[in-house]
Amino acid sequence: MSDTLAVGVMSGTSLDGISTALVRLRDGAGGAELVAFRQEPYSSAERGAIIDAMARGTPKDVAFLHVALGERFAAAVLGLLAQARASPKDLSFIASHGQTIWHEPGRATFQLGDAAVLAERVGVRVVSDFRARDVAAGGQGAPLVPLADVMLFGHEQHGRWLLNVGGMANVTWVPRRGVAEGAFAFDTGPGVAVIDAITRRLDPDAPYDRDGERARRGRPVAKLLEELLADPYFDQPPPKSTGRERFGIDYADKVLARVKKAGGSDNDAIATATALTAESIGRAIARWGEGRRGTGDGEIAEVVISGGGAKNPALVERLAAKIQPRPVVLFDQLFFDGEAKEAVAFAFLGMQTVSGKPGNLPAATGARGPRVLGHITPA
Ligand SMILES: Nc1ncnc2c1ncn2[C@@H]1O[C@H](COP(=O)(O)OP(=O)(O)O)[C@@H](O)[C@H]1O
Ligand SMILES: [Mg+2]
Repeated sequence: MSDTLAVGVMSGTSLDGISTALVRLRDGAGGAELVAFRQEPYSSAERGAIIDAMARGTPKDVAFLHVALGERFAAAVLGLLAQARASPKDLSFIASHGQTIWHEPGRATFQLGDAAVLAERVGVRVVSDFRARDVAAGGQGAPLVPLADVMLFGHEQHGRWLLNVGGMANVTWVPRRGVAEGAFAFDTGPGVAVIDAITRRLDPDAPYDRDGERARRGRPVAKLLEELLADPYFDQPPPKSTGRERFGIDYADKVLARVKKAGGSDNDAIATATALTAESIGRAIARWGEGRRGTGDGEIAEVVISGGGAKNPALVERLAAKIQPRPVVLFDQLFFDGEAKEAVAFAFLGMQTVSGKPGNLPAATGARGPRVLGHITPA
């Protein structure tokens, strides 16, 4: 096989919207080239429907949302193809992550966005439900991006951390590109979900703290920050994963109330959430990455950051200060728009599935072994 053209569809825990990536995949260690990328924001009504389904959805609500998201994903893919002047006939498959509405590590993980609707509307086979098989094999079902990190985004000579800050934040340690032996990964905890939720609670029209502006105008409440960092999740050794069930809106509301009780301002609450993300990532890398060096000559491994959180300078600066002398490098500078990374990674995982190859990294998910992931819905 030579080049394969595919679309990756991602809608992450931040609930910001749908990311679609048109990707050219090459066999073996050939890599993935981003041809086109498109983001479609969820309206606040759509976001609300997903949050409601998670919190108190009836089977009927969930069933309708499953179909509605399938339609939404299909429209997003067609929009991407139109933008790229490509045709469904050019595609080998669509890899759709779906919208997680429940993730309870090791027990159940459930994504919505009906693959049948996607296949029917676009006329292309769909790979979906990547996480379920890993859970069935005793794994957490997350994170799944690590194999893509190993195969596509590792450094060719030395070790590198890949950090994605979406709704949750996850890191992958890659000893060298293409080398899965010694690689491991885990969710460090919240990414932008708590920051977003507090920002929206304070200003329902604001989708997020743009450019970290409000965090910069506030100051973290130090004592509360330490208490939050004492959460047992941060002490749990990898493999581990988390989600909105733990670090979601209820959690954010509690943080906001505690900042207020301590006499802090609205901006102090956003600053505290931003610091919590940066500190928990920094501590996790220091603690669980101890002794992992860039090269044989002791070079300190860099941390390559992607995801929407990389666009928040207040967050990135605090993280950089925390993990120095390790350099923080923006994924965009090395590869392509870091917000497209997960969609590209799922296109890669879809390729693994249609080729009959495993997509999980047991050292990342804790599964009993490598598994071919997902369901395939024919065109
Ligand atoms: N300019 C920006 N300033 C601050 N935060 C941003 C900016 N752009 C994006 N973000 C953050 O990135 C988030 C989306 O990140 P994303 O990687 O799509 O997460 P997920 O994969 O969980 O959906 C937004 O909700 C927001 O918190
Ligand atoms: Mg997103």
